[in-house]
Amino acid sequence: MLTSLKPAVSALRQAAELIRAGELVAFPTETVYGLGGDAGNISAIERIYQVKGRPAHNPLIVHVPDIAAAQQCVTTFSPMALALARQFWPGPFTMVLPRKDRICPMVSAGKNTVALRCPQHPVALALLRESGRPIAAPSANRSGYTSPTTAAHVAAELSGLIPLILDGGPCRVGLESTVVDLTGTIPVILRPGAVTPDMLAASLATAGFPSAVHGPSSRSVTTVPEEVKSPGQLESHYAPRTPAYRFSISKLDRLQRYLRQAGNQRVGLLCWEQWPQLPACAETRVLPAEASACARELYIALRDLDTRHCDVLLIQYPEAMDGLWLAIGDRLRRATKELPL
Ligand code: TXA
Ligand code: MG
Repeated sequence: MLTSLKPAVSALRQAAELIRAGELVAFPTETVYGLGGDAGNISAIERIYQVKGRPAHNPLIVHVPDIAAAQQCVTTFSPMALALARQFWPGPFTMVLPRKDRICPMVSAGKNTVALRCPQHPVALALLRESGRPIAAPSANRSGYTSPTTAAHVAAELSGLIPLILDGGPCRVGLESTVVDLTGTIPVILRPGAVTPDMLAASLATAGFPSAVHGPSSRSVTTVPEEVKSPGQLESHYAPRTPAYRFSISKLDRLQRYLRQAGNQRVGLLCWEQWPQLPACAETRVLPAEASACARELYIALRDLDTRHCDVLLIQYPEAMDGLWLAIGDRLRRATKELPL
C-alpha cells in the first residue's frame, strides 16, 4: 500500500472519507499522533490491532468531538464524568465509562467499558466533525515502541501499512493523555498525564465531589490499587530499540562507574539538567529542565537517539514525581531498565 503524508489542511476531507469507508488514517492530537479508525466498524478496528501488532487484550481509546457525542458511546455519563469533561475537554484527558453496544466490543478488548477522549488539536477535532464518526485511535506506533509526536515518526513506522498520514506539526504536549477510570465511586488514575492528580482533585472539589483520587503515588493520591485495569500499563512500553537504562542524578557515582566500565561502547546520553561537566558520550541530548518543555521534546529526543547506532542509551530519571514529572517518570520507567550496579 502506498502511504501519502499530506498537510492536514489540504487532506482533511480525504481523511474523513477514508474513515467513513473503514480505512485507517494517522492524525495529530495535542498529546501524540493517533492511528484512527471508525469505532463502530469491526474491520477497521481489526486492522488497527493488526497494523500496530497490538495484543488483543489491550483496549483502544475512542475519540469524540464533544460531550454530546461522548454520551452516545456510554450507558451512563455520570455527574462526575460531566463535571470532569467540562473542566478538561477538549484536552489530554481520557475517561473510562460503561460502554454502549454502538462501540464494538473489540475496541475495548471485550471489556464492558470504553475509554473516551475529546482531543484539543484543531485537526483532530475537524476530522471527528467531518467524518461524523467516533474514532478509535491508539498512538500511531508499533506496539511497545515510543509514541510518535511528529508525522515523520509515524511515517518511519507505518509507511506502506496505511493510506494516509495527516501532518499537523509536532505535538504540543508530547506525552499520552491521562487515563482515569470512573466506573467506581472513587476515580482511579490508570495512566498519569498532563492532567495531574492535583488538577483532578482540585476540579472534583470545585464541582462539589469528594476530592479523593486513587492512582500512582503522589501528594494528592491516597492509595495504589493493585488490580489490573489498564492492560497497556503493565508491559514494557514506550521503549526505544537500543537497550536503555535509567539513572538518577542523586546516584551519579553509579553512572560514572558504568561509563568507566563501558569501554568502547557507543553510549547515548539523554538528560535534562545541565551539569557543570557532562560526561563525554558519543551522543548527548539535553532536554529543558521545565517539565512541560521536557515532555514535549522527550519522545523526539528518544527516537532521534535510537537512530544513532548507539550500543546503549543512558536516560536521566526524575527524582521528584509531582505534577507532569509523574507522567514523565511513568513512561521512562517502562521504557528503560535500572542501571546495573
Ligand atoms: O493521548 C492519548 O491518549 C493517545 C492519543 C492518540 O489520543 N492515545 C493513546 O492510546 O495513547 P493508546 O492505545 O496508545 O493507549 C491507551 C491506553 C492503554 O494503556 C489502554 O490499556 C488504556 O488506555 N485503555 C483503553 N481503553 C481502556 C478501558 N476500557 N479500560 C481501561 N484502560 C483502557
Ligand atoms: Mg500507545
